Amino acid sequence: MRKPLIAANWKMNTTPSEAVALVQQLLPGLMAVPSVETLLCPPFISLVLISELLRGSDIELGAQNVYFEDKGAFTGEISLSMLTGYCKYVILGHSERRSLFGETNQTVNKKIRAAISAGLRPILCIGESLEEKEAGLTESVVTTHLQQSLEGITDTSMLVVAYEPVWAIGTGHAATGEQAEYTVKLIRNVLASIFDADTASAIRILYGGSANAANISEFISQPNIDGALVGGASLKPAEFIDMVEQTAKFRPRTLMSDPL
Ligand code: PGA
Repeated sequence: MRKPLIAANWKMNTTPSEAVALVQQLLPGLMAVPSVETLLCPPFISLVLISELLRGSDIELGAQNVYFEDKGAFTGEISLSMLTGYCKYVILGHSERRSLFGETNQTVNKKIRAAISAGLRPILCIGESLEEKEAGLTESVVTTHLQQSLEGITDTSMLVVAYEPVWAIGTGHAATGEQAEYTVKLIRNVLASIFDADTASAIRILYGGSANAANISEFISQPNIDGALVGGASLKPAEFIDMVEQTAKFRPRTLMSDPL
């Protein structure tokens, strides 16, 4: 059984004091829903402060990126060993990293390998652009993203995949539940071809892209979708808590322990 995961990607929003205030507003509501794993991914500079606030709760902390080298002359980068004391997860290969900062599947692959060997759980983001969707390339794009990003990886016990169609991110135009399920199922099949069917069925796959309180039930009610990676709506505490509560209602049979 795959435990549902609702992850907040705050992107480049919140100063440290705003981040602390947001966590204080979120904590009581999130802690009241233990059947859903909740994850906050604030900017790097707030991780230490927030890890203090989350101590003793079961709310998880994650980073939005990491570099694959352990230390050295990499000005401006953050290494895994800097994160491991504070974070459990790291978002990798987000479409904004790919389109604005030149990340490729090859870079993402290095980061995933490094994250897994450091004991940090990677959330691998994949998805097609609008042009690729319109050209009928969704299947080949997600397949290539998966094959190249996961090349040489054998331990998938810590892996989470997020299907984030680029055309849905931050646009207010989410995929429909059926559209998302169709591609997520395809992703699970690709994972089965890379690994095997049992491995693929144990990997959690999230939907991301304009997910909010009004549409989360569409996604979480699908058999292959195990949660959401939430951007804009995760900055609104009442809405994010509502999304987590709805997830608990829709996935009552996944009241299981952590899959790891
Ligand atoms: P959004 O972002 O919910 O604001 O569309 C999702 C993401 O980029 O992870």
